[in-house]
Amino acid sequence: MAEVVIVGSEEEAGELAASALVDLVRSRPDAVLGLATGSTPLSTYRALARRLRDDGLDVSRVRGFALDEYVGLPPGHPESYRAVITREVVEPLGLTPSLVHVPNGDPETIRTAADDYERAIADAGGVDLQILGIGRTGHIGFNEPGSSLASPTRVKTLTEQTRADNARFFDSPDDVPVHCITQGIGTILRARHLVLLAFGAAKARALADAVEGPVSASRPGSAIQLHPHATVIVDEAAAAEL
Ligand code: GLP
Repeated sequence: MAEVVIVGSEEEAGELAASALVDLVRSRPDAVLGLATGSTPLSTYRALARRLRDDGLDVSRVRGFALDEYVGLPPGHPESYRAVITREVVEPLGLTPSLVHVPNGDPETIRTAADDYERAIADAGGVDLQILGIGRTGHIGFNEPGSSLASPTRVKTLTEQTRADNARFFDSPDDVPVHCITQGIGTILRARHLVLLAFGAAKARALADAVEGPVSASRPGSAIQLHPHATVIVDEAAAAEL
């Protein structure tokens, strides 16, 4: 059963998650962070940048693995998750760029990219703390409903709902890629600590399904119930259906 913490605001949630990350880096200077994209983790990254600056912690050896990437965006596209992770995480936190990994969404090499990524995570010794958001479809990473709970990193097709939800980041809805490469649910479950964040009423149903619903591939977020150390940090609106 996941521990659920209901906080007053997104900022407060960010402070809490950042504290867990600071404690981790303090005890393990070469910690492996599991990084999520989307709007949800931004308050955590902001709080973490502030805390690292204030505490003067050395993060030069901290490593990171992003959850997912779009397939087929041109290199350097500002909404590729590689670009987002650089802009929102690597630069503000002062991480060493070569130690922060994002799945490779280049169609030319996609056949081997998933296995390569899975191996790179294992070679790093696994993820210490994985930050997660949750999609309105209940997805974690880009594991849409129907994803096996044991799935490895692989290429997936995005649902129309997720493409519509992410259209706000692109000039036109048609520009949202159809395919992605994502850590699997099995991959995510191997992280040693999961911290799932959710804010706003639009996430209430998916969050309740994840925390209290039956554990099922049709509700990918419910996989967190299988994890021995999962923390869920939500605001009141997202907690409304618990
Ligand atoms: C995105 C990402 C997920 C994220 C989720 C929620 O598409 N691939 O990792 O957790 O959907 O996004 P947001 O935080 O913007 O609501």
